[in-house]
Amino acid sequence: MALEKNPLSPITLSPPTTDASATLHCVAPARVNLLGEHTDYTGGFVLPMAISFATQAAISPRSDAHYSFTSELLNQTLTIDLDDRSTARGEWSDYPVGVLRQLQQHGIHPPPFDLHLTGNVPFAAGVSSSASVEVASAMAMLAIARTRLSIEEISLLCQRAENEFVDSPCGIMDQFVITAAKAGHALLLDTRSLTYEHLPMNKGALADTQIVVCNSMVKHSVATGEYGMRRRESEEGQAILVARFGVRDLGETTLDQLYLAQSEMSDAAFRRCRHIISDNARVHQAKHAMFNGDPLAFGKLMLSGHASERDDFECSCEEIDFLVDTAAQLPGCFGARLTGGGFGGSTVNLVQRSQAEAFSTALKASYQERFNIAADVYICDAVDGAWRRNIPAAEDLA
Ligand code: GLA
Repeated sequence: MALEKNPLSPITLSPPTTDASATLHCVAPARVNLLGEHTDYTGGFVLPMAISFATQAAISPRSDAHYSFTSELLNQTLTIDLDDRSTARGEWSDYPVGVLRQLQQHGIHPPPFDLHLTGNVPFAAGVSSSASVEVASAMAMLAIARTRLSIEEISLLCQRAENEFVDSPCGIMDQFVITAAKAGHALLLDTRSLTYEHLPMNKGALADTQIVVCNSMVKHSVATGEYGMRRRESEEGQAILVARFGVRDLGETTLDQLYLAQSEMSDAAFRRCRHIISDNARVHQAKHAMFNGDPLAFGKLMLSGHASERDDFECSCEEIDFLVDTAAQLPGCFGARLTGGGFGGSTVNLVQRSQAEAFSTALKASYQERFNIAADVYICDAVDGAWRRNIPAAEDLA
């Protein structure tokens, strides 16, 4: 079975259809999260990296008083007035329009533009196609508005676009790593303070490993509503812990404190918090494993993180559990887990470099046999985020 090895690096995207002489191009990658899942809306820690799928936004000026948004993949265009105040349409355009609305609310008014979006980020695969579109769009609109914002400002603005316009209650992880990532590094982010470290992925024996992402090709329809419900349950537990111990959030709560307060909260809130608090600890332990160049220790953390997501956070599903259990038995695999929001999507695997192709082939074959579904498998390098890739060329715009 042929394996797609980094099929999309270097990025090759179709040329924009607008006037090339006045067109600015901004690129934003996708991401995979290594550890720290569902920890980014209660002040916790995450450890994602950017991967070489990308959204490209091509932006050029218009001579009339409109903004237009084109999806080259869907062959659809939406054109709106400069002062358009419509609400979300429940489609792809909500992401760039939401970003524009946020910029306008912050006093940044780009001149009329044509924005063309294209790219190769798999949709509904748990690698954050939506945040990739948001960040690419934001970079492009900032470039044409000749405005610079910081990594933190761009990430928060894109998160607010998703929370407020799209009405999706996501945390800050995806937008932040897609903006701030550094090639060859994972990003350890404190989602309360937004302080971060780039952790090298090539120390010791980790230099001989690869990150392999396996797209299960399933996304269960409960995903959207369940994400919000998990978030509410986690926040319910957090509120009790904040009141009882004076902590700011789950990012600084211990498991001992959680057990002391167990009888005061619902079983669901308790188990959601137990997952989050233990995953925060796993992120810190993973940092040590990275500095020690210890793939065995890192892989164990991934497996225990998966068990916690499956049993306590209850955001896995049969297909994903099968992929994780199968991966863990394959030669060269140090660890595997569900990555992203859950209820389908992708697994992330840490695999000995020399075994990565055989691992991928075997995993695909087992999954095909069990579910009759052809999974997509990507052997991934950690790439730069949008901030490093797009040195905005606004000055070059006529
Ligand atoms: C989605 C959200 C993120 C994060 C993950 C789970 O990807 O967009 O903010 O909560 O789920 O870790």
